[in-house]
Amino acid sequence: MRIRINKIQEMKDSGERIPCLTAYDSPTAMLAESSGVPLILVGDSVGNVVLGYESTIPVTLEDIIHHTRSVIRGSSKALVVSDMPFLTYQAGVDDAVRNAGRLIQEGGAQAVKLEGGLPVIPIVERIVDVGMPVMGHLGLTPQSVNQLGGYRVQGRTLKEAAELVANARALEQAGAFGIVLETIPSEVADLVTKSVSIPTIGIGAGVGCSGEIQIIHELLGLVDGRIRKHAKLYADIKLQSEIALSQYVADVQKGIFPGLEQSFFLEPDLLEALSETLLGEKEDNS
Ligand code: KIV
Repeated sequence: MRIRINKIQEMKDSGERIPCLTAYDSPTAMLAESSGVPLILVGDSVGNVVLGYESTIPVTLEDIIHHTRSVIRGSSKALVVSDMPFLTYQAGVDDAVRNAGRLIQEGGAQAVKLEGGLPVIPIVERIVDVGMPVMGHLGLTPQSVNQLGGYRVQGRTLKEAAELVANARALEQAGAFGIVLETIPSEVADLVTKSVSIPTIGIGAGVGCSGEIQIIHELLGLVDGRIRKHAKLYADIKLQSEIALSQYVADVQKGIFPGLEQSFFLEPDLLEALSETLLGEKEDNS
């Protein structure tokens, strides 16, 4: 039985912090679930960390459906939230409802997440009205990177901070069950968190949110280059993999791998019969 959105609210209400992770396929979903996180996000960050894009903008609905299915197969307890990719909800309410429905019906997700504040409120309302849980996403919203002028800290001015609070309240009012707060000053995240009764889930938003979400590949060192300021390297799996795979290549080159343990052999009497037959045929032919 999977965790439901009411459990996430209960955790917030009881002051239990809510650790969340992204996952993009069955192996990462299994790893995420083994850590005990109650919520897994199939983020459109799949574009950056798995599909090799420079941003989340090229990610399609089909991509997220495909990856959500894999995450569902690799997990059984966590609430799975699927990101609505760029332009799958901004163009209109009907479009948004249909696309959210596909993530839930075809992907198997229990909820969807979408980015933005006041402009997406009617969309959130409608998706929630028809019975699909929605998570909001404020602050640094990567689908708007071109409008924001890069991946910069948001909410640094009085006006921006006030907008964040207003947007969070509007999302709660529209029925969102939680809000991701990305890359904003900790003090502003605290203020937003105090302004709403639904959980806030931070990434680069300090420790005052109701919970935290991180990209699993960043925590495990499975990304190219330096990890970002808001992340922490909990294990350097990339380095360990590079060492392991170089060892494999060297072993193959030296003829050490495969060894006896990795090889299959005939039963001795069959080997004898086979050798006799084959050698016999060879002798007949010569
Ligand atoms: O796509 C994603 O992984 C996200 C997280 C950064 C919250 O939206």
